[in-house]
Amino acid sequence: MSALMQVNHLSKAFGGNQVLEDVSFSLDQGEILGLLGPNGSGKSTLLNTISGFTPIDHGTISIGTQRIDKLPTYQIINSGIARTFQLPNMPKKMSVLEVVMAAGTRSHGLFQSLFPSKRLRQVEQSDLAKATQLLDELLLTKVRNLPADALSGGQKKLLGIACALMGKPSVLMLDEPMAGVHPNLRQEIVETLTRLNQNGLSLIIIEHDMHFIRELCHRCIVLNRGTIVANCSPQELAHNEQVLEAYLGGGTHKLQEAV
Ligand SMILES: Nc1ncnc2c1ncn2[C@@H]1O[C@H](COP(=O)(O)OP(=O)(O)O)[C@@H](O)[C@H]1O
Ligand SMILES: [Mg+2]
Repeated sequence: MSALMQVNHLSKAFGGNQVLEDVSFSLDQGEILGLLGPNGSGKSTLLNTISGFTPIDHGTISIGTQRIDKLPTYQIINSGIARTFQLPNMPKKMSVLEVVMAAGTRSHGLFQSLFPSKRLRQVEQSDLAKATQLLDELLLTKVRNLPADALSGGQKKLLGIACALMGKPSVLMLDEPMAGVHPNLRQEIVETLTRLNQNGLSLIIIEHDMHFIRELCHRCIVLNRGTIVANCSPQELAHNEQVLEAYLGGGTHKLQEAV
């Protein structure tokens, strides 16, 4: 495997709160990387900085040889990085299918919109085909005509993944994809993510569910108070003192239960 994404010496503070401090790690091509850590340790902020939602104070973020840490969000998306949100908000007046289609919308300009060319109609047709295929893959075909806001928390997570995949990313970053998801859907999500990964997608996944982490992740990094305290295989987590200290507040007996 070769490094696809490289984060070097990244730091971020909000006022006096140093949320990320000298964070360095890489994501290999084809890798599934788990991002762990207790609540408030900086996991979502790290995803926000990589995806351009939150500007960084120091450090660099690169995809291949391209620096992306100073690019606007849409250019970061164009460079192949997509993400989902911890608590996805969905529009009330759009159907599930319309939301996925909108996620794939490119800017064609006013003239093109009023007088669509044959080529533009073909682009829209291919977007519709892609959206339909993704809704099928993410088990949302039955609800494709419902208002997106009417979906359950778990279905909204799946819809968030479908939207993120419309841009055909090379890296997908998921913020707690299993939280609020009905147990019946969990295995389906694991299988879908495995299939996407086998088709070449690299993943960064924030998750607390250790069963999910063990099943899916090739490697894990663990944040504690904004600093990486472990970078190891999921199996090694249970034997790592720093993880024990960070994640569970000490006490090996707790580690056996949770990891
Ligand atoms: N936009 C923001 N403004 C101020 N503080 C923030 C902001 N986003 C996150 N934080 C702070 O950063 C810390 C880490 O938050 P977060 O990255 O959401 O943690 P995690 O996802 O690991 O639970 C928290 O103390 C949080 O209050
Ligand atoms: Mg979070």
